[in-house]
Amino acid sequence: MMRVLTGIQASGKLHIGNYFGAMKPMVDLQEKNELFTFIANYHSLTTSKDSATLKQYTIDAAVDYLSIGIDPNKTTFWIQSHVPEVLELYWILSKFTPMGLLERGHSYKDKVARGIPANHALFSYPVLMAADILILDTEVVPVGKDQIQHVEMTRDIATKFNNEYGDIFTIPSHQVAAEVSTIPGIDGQKMSKSYANAIDLFMEEKPLQKRCNKIISSSTPLGEPLTWEDDNIYALASLFLDSEKKKELQVRYQSGKEGYGHFKKYLKELIWKELAEARDKRTYYLSHMDEVNDILAQGAKKAQNIAQTKMLQVKEAIGL
Ligand code: ADP
Ligand code: TRP
Repeated sequence: MMRVLTGIQASGKLHIGNYFGAMKPMVDLQEKNELFTFIANYHSLTTSKDSATLKQYTIDAAVDYLSIGIDPNKTTFWIQSHVPEVLELYWILSKFTPMGLLERGHSYKDKVARGIPANHALFSYPVLMAADILILDTEVVPVGKDQIQHVEMTRDIATKFNNEYGDIFTIPSHQVAAEVSTIPGIDGQKMSKSYANAIDLFMEEKPLQKRCNKIISSSTPLGEPLTWEDDNIYALASLFLDSEKKKELQVRYQSGKEGYGHFKKYLKELIWKELAEARDKRTYYLSHMDEVNDILAQGAKKAQNIAQTKMLQVKEAIGL
């Protein structure tokens, strides 16, 4: 059993791309590992617009992840700011973080290039991430490609500390999740909330059908065989299908008996069915927010126990 840590940046409504690209793989991790998962709201502060939005996004993400299958009996699940010990470690780790290391940070450079005002939190973001990881003796951090550098920085910082003060920190490794191909939005571009092309996870049935109806496909007239290879409806539907069912759908495309309208209905059914259980759970949690808060409080307590033990070791080692 490996101790695995994942951090969720809450940034609004989740979509089918998030579901297949990030949420489902995360839920699968809890079956074979000791999974720790938190909502990174201190990190979200670096790009947050206002307090109400930050608060709402944080709690929405908690509800959504619980709904799609984060199991509080298996996984320790909490909100980052409920374990403020990470901020104490963040300061201590700053001493072991050369300026040059942070200056080479891709994420910081990208964000500034996109016009986000440069501030110290944005710059030192990787040090807080290192604190998240090291305070729990994390062994493995599953990441997307953009986050690999942050785990490498964490290793550098931990190694520097350990060289000076003994083996206090576990040196973590990153694990790049099995490549989920980029999921297209209704316009065929990468599905993203920034491109207004997303199919949101938790939609009512009618708006969901309307959204599916907007998927752009070729203009082959009804009655002619359709090609599935480059079709967005097919690409989305195939996410829900095993190889046998994919074959069946390919045959339907080639038969020429059905038009895109049929496949849009079929896709809606697939999405609707896949999320039936999650929808029920979400309805339940939304009307039992005390239970959600309880789960998060218990998760915070468990994470905090580990964090406090680690902080005692760290402070003892450095003479605080
Ligand atoms: P968005 O592009 O909508 O802002 P985020 O950047 O918040 O999405 O994505 C969160 C995670 O969801 C990403 O790290 C990625 O793993 C996954 N993800 C988002 N969009 C897609 C997509 N179109 N295809 C596959 N995975 C995606
Ligand atoms: N930086 C991560 C992201 O943007 C979120 C995150 C914060 C994280 N702290 C972490 C991920 C610790 C893994 C471990 O996705």
